Amino acid sequence: MSNRSTRTLSRAAEAEEPERWERSPVASRIPDILDETDFGWLLGLTAEDQAGKLATLTADLRRHHSDDGDGKRIASGFSYLGAESAIAWANACRDYLYPVMKQSIESFDLRWTRIRHLLDQPYHYVSLGPGDGRKDAVILHDLKQANPSVCYVAVDMSAEMLRLGVQDVVRQLKLPRSRILPVQLDFSVAANIIELRRLLRTMFGSEPILFSLLGNTMANFEDDLGMLTMLAGKLLRPEDRFLVEVATTRRLDDERVRLACEEYGRSRTFREFTTSTLMHYTDLQIDMDNVVLRGSVEQDRSILVKIIYQNLTGHEIRMTLPDRTSVSFPAEDTIRLLLTRKYGPDAFGSVLHDNGLRELGDSHFDFIHGSGSEFGMELMLFEAGQDGEGRRRSIAENVWQKE
Ligand SMILES: C[S@@+](CC[C@H](N)C(=O)[O-])C[C@H]1O[C@@H](n2cnc3c(N)ncnc32)[C@H](O)[C@@H]1O
Repeated sequence: MSNRSTRTLSRAAEAEEPERWERSPVASRIPDILDETDFGWLLGLTAEDQAGKLATLTADLRRHHSDDGDGKRIASGFSYLGAESAIAWANACRDYLYPVMKQSIESFDLRWTRIRHLLDQPYHYVSLGPGDGRKDAVILHDLKQANPSVCYVAVDMSAEMLRLGVQDVVRQLKLPRSRILPVQLDFSVAANIIELRRLLRTMFGSEPILFSLLGNTMANFEDDLGMLTMLAGKLLRPEDRFLVEVATTRRLDDERVRLACEEYGRSRTFREFTTSTLMHYTDLQIDMDNVVLRGSVEQDRSILVKIIYQNLTGHEIRMTLPDRTSVSFPAEDTIRLLLTRKYGPDAFGSVLHDNGLRELGDSHFDFIHGSGSEFGMELMLFEAGQDGEGRRRSIAENVWQKE
């Protein structure tokens, strides 16, 4: 075919599908603008429908009566909605009386140093729930050495947490803004994870990714193990790695249950954080004395602590909900504000293995606060497990390829 006829053909194709050939200035110019200015722009993707989230919160606050935190509730992720909650969280993370987060953040560098050698390739980094971003900054600092083109994708349900955390990473690491993508998304929903995977495949192709779920975030979900295995099953390909951090207890007994409740209960900033969604989205007059902690040993694998708001006034209260309707909050009824756990020594073993996860290494840290509680934090690095014939097992690998 002559040059002339090739040109004619391509012009005809352009005429038929102009949008395939003209790149939108939104997509093509913004990366340059982000890298050229110091102004605090952040380019992000928003998947969450905030109105839908408020409807879920409203429905959860209408649930049945329970004296024990099993009726009305604020589900995980909703505790961080809104600027007040994000600020309250950042304050709690710096509180000496709330060691789970303060010591977890401050000891992170050391624990990460012990296992980072297990990451043997250049990775991109996807953080599920970045919080205040301080741990992500530590990880990215190292990943950047091995991969100067590292990209950082921060996934969080709360726009305000994303802003808070990612901004800090940008400031500390001087990572080009065009290599950072905040994604506002509820990662506990399987359909959302499928879309996230599609996005990552389009951006990174077969380049390896390090995923993380840090700060004992998995412990906040009712079906914690189900959530972890859903994430691993849908995201993790053989070349990827998954970094998970949990709070631990060396023993599961009544004394540890008491100490765990005491530990979460003594920090005023933590109480302020747990009540901030209720304060922001309802007209309840918050009385900190009505924040109650109930602990128990859960199936010989963890200490489960429910942080609940209980109506201890002795009479019924009417509470206005986000949709401006009101609901009865009778005496003794409760609203579960947060769920958390400390995992025992054998909490994960077979469950994770049976669900296709293989642990490559871990790094432990015992809290320093002389109470003899035997509590600590564990950082674990996983890869996709192997099948009976020794092949790397990855549900995600097949699904990624089919899409
Ligand atoms: C316990 S904090 C951990 C923060 C940080 N990774 C750390 O270790 O310091 C949990 C983080 O996950 C986010 N999060 C909780 N549930 C979520 C959900 N269902 N979907 C998306 N983000 C969620 C919160 O907004 C918050 O940023």
